[in-house]
Amino acid sequence: MTAYLQVTDLNKRFGGLQALRDCSFTIAKGRITCLVGPNGAGKTTIFNAITGFLAPDTGHVAFQGTSLDGKTPQQVVRHGIARTFQNLRLFADLTARENVLAGMQDHVGEEPFAAIFRPIHTARTLAAKRLAALDVLAHVGLQDRADTLVRNLSYGEQKLLCIARILATGADLLLLDEPTSGLSGAALTEVMALLRRLQSEGKTLLVVEHNTRVVQQIADDVLFLHHGHLLAHGSPAEIIADPKLAEIYFGGAL
Ligand SMILES: Nc1ncnc2c1ncn2[C@@H]1O[C@H](COP(=O)(O)OP(=O)(O)O)[C@@H](O)[C@H]1O
Ligand SMILES: [Mg+2]
Repeated sequence: MTAYLQVTDLNKRFGGLQALRDCSFTIAKGRITCLVGPNGAGKTTIFNAITGFLAPDTGHVAFQGTSLDGKTPQQVVRHGIARTFQNLRLFADLTARENVLAGMQDHVGEEPFAAIFRPIHTARTLAAKRLAALDVLAHVGLQDRADTLVRNLSYGEQKLLCIARILATGADLLLLDEPTSGLSGAALTEVMALLRRLQSEGKTLLVVEHNTRVVQQIADDVLFLHHGHLLAHGSPAEIIADPKLAEIYFGGAL
């Protein structure tokens, strides 16, 4: 059977550092897979390699049987995979809605000739997109913040906006790089509930997550990365119960 996402033997070297080493795994459709491992294990590098932000030295990525090798980030999004960034990368001086619009495909701003020669069509398209952007914001609970500048949103709201922005692409496979980092209390609970809701709506999620409690609560599958190599995969209970992995991850403090 063809895997939903298949990553095969990725290798990536940065100067003297082997960031990915024969890294292989698959992701099953409709599941939440957590990607865990110590800082510097290569988690973000894997996201970069899957989404076309970085060319691996060797190895392959295939989505639903189609090779993504050599694709640009825009092409990867059109195939149905979108990712968030660990460092948010929002436009601080734009509103929440404008940030979502910037993430939408076929944005009218990319059609200068249509804007000049078909102004009514363009205005209608733009109005439709502004409504669609509001829908996406409502989906993550930010409908009341649509016209607020990002710099005036709380950190938790900014994390939700990052997810809204990739939902706007319509992608089915969502790669989330530390969506809960820096969050606690209600904000953390809210993001966890959103991830589960997205899964129930048919999305597939690959999530870099450091908090063991969060992993236990949201993950169907766990991938454990160490020095750029997939060291183990299993259920959250299996991974957390493995003393070798706990030693690597926490110095035995689990
Ligand atoms: N563009 C780059 N140039 C040089 N080194 C990099 C680059 N990107 C990542 N690295 C290094 O590769 C290793 C893996 O990084 P990263 O994938 O960000 O780890 P993680 O997300 O698991 O914390 C780290 O040692 C990091 O410093
Ligand atoms: Mg990272």
